[in-house]
Amino acid sequence: SPAIIAAVERLMRRVEDFPAAGVQFCDLTPVLADPDGFDAVVAGLVASHEIGSVDYVAGLDARGFLLAGAVAVQLHTGVLAIRKAGKLPPPVHSRSYELEYGAATLELPADGLDLRGKRVLVVDDVLATGGTLGAAVGLLDDCGAVVAGLSVVLEVPGLGGRDRLAGTPLTCLTVA
Ligand code: PRP
Repeated sequence: SPAIIAAVERLMRRVEDFPAAGVQFCDLTPVLADPDGFDAVVAGLVASHEIGSVDYVAGLDARGFLLAGAVAVQLHTGVLAIRKAGKLPPPVHSRSYELEYGAATLELPADGLDLRGKRVLVVDDVLATGGTLGAAVGLLDDCGAVVAGLSVVLEVPGLGGRDRLAGTPLTCLTVA
């Protein structure tokens, strides 16, 4: 919507050469810190889903956590934190992936949470190469879950993210 695009363009901070030379970092912190900005992006992420169509909303470490909690309340679901490696006690499901810079691993608890057949909406702040969301899809697949959708606030085009995620419904509220 125009309100979301305006809020993101007004408030987003673009940082050159972070965290590596040649990478532009799109920081949505000021959007989420703004009451109207946060309200607009949460409403946008909720809009493409009906109550009852999703069992869990999962947020990706770290800014995805902020969005997932708010979206989950709106969709009347539970919330999941998909963690970076080394935070959870064993046993865990885990998936490694490549970043624009280096590599990383995402994890979910393997005990105490049964995702078999559950419909999970995955939310994050930014889609760039799609490595992070792609790993989340693989991780949820390992857990037996059904990925109901992938929703992000900002798509950075030209890095192949959209192609890498082909096959799973993808919603991007704005484009960098
Ligand atoms: C950023 C962003 C996404 C990811 C997108 O997180 O919040 O999660 O990169 O990039 P990709 O599409 O190329 O995978 P980052 O890895 O910087 O971690 P952070 O949220 O812990 O800062």
